[in-house]
Amino acid sequence: MTTIPVLLGDRSYDVLVEEGSLARAGELLARHLAPRPARAALIADEHVLSLHGPRLLASLGGLACVTIPLPQGEAAKEISVYGRVLDELARARLDRGSIVLALGGGAASDLAGFAAATYLRGIRLVGFPTTLLAQVDASVGGKTGINLGAGKNLAGAFHQPSLVVIDPAVLATLAPRERNAGFGEVLKYGLLSPAPAILARLESQAPLEGPALVELIAECVALKADHVRRDEREESLRAHLNLGHTFAHALERAQDYRGLQHGEAVGLGLIAACHLSTLLLGCERPLADRVRRVLARFALPQRATFDPDAVLEHMGADKKRAGSELRLVLLERPGAPRVVPAPERSLLLDALAQIS
Ligand code: GLY
Repeated sequence: MTTIPVLLGDRSYDVLVEEGSLARAGELLARHLAPRPARAALIADEHVLSLHGPRLLASLGGLACVTIPLPQGEAAKEISVYGRVLDELARARLDRGSIVLALGGGAASDLAGFAAATYLRGIRLVGFPTTLLAQVDASVGGKTGINLGAGKNLAGAFHQPSLVVIDPAVLATLAPRERNAGFGEVLKYGLLSPAPAILARLESQAPLEGPALVELIAECVALKADHVRRDEREESLRAHLNLGHTFAHALERAQDYRGLQHGEAVGLGLIAACHLSTLLLGCERPLADRVRRVLARFALPQRATFDPDAVLEHMGADKKRAGSELRLVLLERPGAPRVVPAPERSLLLDALAQIS
């Protein structure tokens, strides 16, 4: 079992990475949660629930657990679903000592986390992320939230989990496109990491499965845990984790969230960010080409169809803007990110031309 501690004083917790850990959920909860909860609610993506729920529930022993299914994907983050989930938690009589178990990808993790953050002003949360993207990103760090009519993730809370259990074996049940999309987010960590290990794994042709996949996930989680430890509320350093994301969110929105998967959009955003990093910060010229080669390895798109003006408009609306100034995370070199004011429109259009 690989254990990565997220050190946040009295809110510290462990992230456990091991193949087969989902079937040991009950034992791991008993070992890591004090005081022991008397009741739990399993809030889960309905599809993931049918695949992995029985194994998780069977491992819980005497812990009374109600199951609350969620619609698949972003539909889980609608305010009506959030209201229904809170009602179900209340009907099941969960109290302040109870726990929410979140099973699924990023959307299930965000919704279940927000329900745990707000039900009875906050109860404990344990994450069982089942996509690569949720394993390396959404389940760690305490960001929770739902979507509003006005935009994605506009209501939310920081609520750290008490434990995260990552079982890389569940990735085998993902559709290839969804599994590959997670590598867009892994590549982001490769570019941010001051140590070459993650990028080297992605650039080598060695298969990423079994122990190598466990190590890769653990390396990404350790990097994220370090950012969260040093800047839990994203006042400075944690913003580096948004590398490629200002472009990615705008691309997703310009396609009405019906085209690219998030990890695919992040991959494209990384090409655009690396291109600008070379132009503005003198970053090594071939970095965007290295990014393209990694994307090709995982069959991730290197181009997309979009209206550049719409993407620029949505970038202007990105919620990571400081005051009226749009800022971007760029790289001086791999492992050396910097937040800079966005350049003039013509350079942003040039960056978008690299991916259209
Ligand atoms: N997904 C970026 C963060 O958690 O800060």
